[in-house]
Amino acid sequence: MSERKATNITWHEGEVTRAERERKHGHRGVTLWFTGLSASGKSTIARRLERLLTDRGAFCYVLDGDNIRHGLNANLGFSPEDRAENIRRIGEVAKLFTDAGAITMTAFISPYRADRDRVRAIMAPGDFVEIYVQAPLELCEQRDPKGLYRRARAGEIRDFTGISAPYEPPENPEIVLDTATHDPDGCARIVIDWLVQRGVLPS
Ligand code: ADX
Repeated sequence: MSERKATNITWHEGEVTRAERERKHGHRGVTLWFTGLSASGKSTIARRLERLLTDRGAFCYVLDGDNIRHGLNANLGFSPEDRAENIRRIGEVAKLFTDAGAITMTAFISPYRADRDRVRAIMAPGDFVEIYVQAPLELCEQRDPKGLYRRARAGEIRDFTGISAPYEPPENPEIVLDTATHDPDGCARIVIDWLVQRGVLPS
């Protein structure tokens, strides 16, 4: 699906550089790629982080699984091929946002390691920060905010991650957040500390 069909196309550099945009925003552009089971806490942490970062004057934006599937990726389901295309498109969008200088947060299950690694590979070194939002399946099932685990267990939803479709945890994520032991605010603060330590955000 990602095969290139367009020919005779040229890449154009703009007059305004990324560095100039980043100076204006007062921080570097980066993609914070949250991955984890449904109901592990990805969106909640990303939203909390968006609040805290915006309050500090940062330019940030959250790309969220359920929302993107209403529009840009409305034509994709949950087969391995469709998930790969879902993640590929989000990766390209995140790359553009990062080039715009935004602290870009993506909250997608992104269950396949190869799909996440492909996104890492299209980004410049340091631009892709993989954040594993870790929570035991039992806890996610207990939370079940959308009632989807119950329906998946009842056989009403096919290919449901953790139940009837795999989740491949990251092998070397930059950050691991354990939502069984940390609340969303605590997790968001761990990420902010990391960004400050790495010089993405000023202290
Ligand atoms: S991903 O696997 O392609 O990264 P994505 O994050 O976009 O998934 O969408 C996951 C969301 O879609 C879940 O939080 C859940 O609300 C909903 N969903 C619906 N069907 C499924 C399914 N079969 N597996 C996982 N999530 C599903």
